[in-house]
Amino acid sequence: MSNSETIIYEKRNDIGYVTLNRPQALNAYNLQMRDELYQVLGAIKDDPEVRVAIFRGAGERAFCAGADLTEFLTAPSPVIARQVRWERDVWGLFLSITKPLIAALHGYVLGSGIEIALCCDIRIASEDTQLGLPETGLGIIAAAGGSQTLPRAIGRAGALEMLLTGRWITAKEAHRLKLVNHVVPRASLLPSAERIANKIKGYSPTAVAYAKQAITRGLDMSLEQGLELEARLGDYLKRDKSHGKEKPGRPH
Ligand code: COA
Repeated sequence: MSNSETIIYEKRNDIGYVTLNRPQALNAYNLQMRDELYQVLGAIKDDPEVRVAIFRGAGERAFCAGADLTEFLTAPSPVIARQVRWERDVWGLFLSITKPLIAALHGYVLGSGIEIALCCDIRIASEDTQLGLPETGLGIIAAAGGSQTLPRAIGRAGALEMLLTGRWITAKEAHRLKLVNHVVPRASLLPSAERIANKIKGYSPTAVAYAKQAITRGLDMSLEQGLELEARLGDYLKRDKSHGKEKPGRPH
């Protein structure tokens, strides 16, 4: 287990637990959290002992209340902001992870909080969850992939309404919109996420990684290209099996 200030990262029984840890600020996403998250995502990606990861928020009130407003638009200059982004593309790294990622959401899930959840593959929300994208009202647009990941998750109309109006939605509505997979009582949140993680980690990591890629990459392709991808991944899997090796995350 390694503890840094804004992120707690623990490994237990092949599961990586990532806890956003600024409960006094409702786990708002600040620059330090970005840097620490980048390190932790790299560890999840590279560590063969981690088969699946669960993301959650510390404290009773929030998964994450969005970007830290006290650091809002404080990058020293656009050039430096761009350079930092290039060096630490947290969202690109998130989406490049071929292991399954599960978001366990509670309380406020705003702005970057939703965007972190959207970088995960399965989202479980407790009944008290409230979700919203306040960016447009603040004169900015979602900057952590949300304008692309949200419509891919819930479709164009729902995403446009959430982004343009900034209207908050409840866990129940998020479930109806297919933004979250399950809604559970607060006490069942972590056990529900762990139940899914435990199920997945019992399977071949290569099959799991390829299945994830077939869907996540295939969604950005035509049906024809997606079917080719599926066939290619199926072939790799057969070959990996016949050579007796497991190579999760093999690049294609
Ligand atoms: N950035 C920095 N600090 C934040 C924060 C954020 N995004 N969201 C909450 N906090 C801090 C508050 O400043 C407060 O700190 P304090 O106790 O030192 O004053 C603490 O977290 C608790 O928040 P508070 O506003 O007192 O709780 P609340 O229940 O009255 O309201 C919210 C909760 C989520 C409605 C409110 O905090 C809020 O609107 N936050 C901003 C959401 C947002 O716009 N995020 C940016 C998205 S781009």
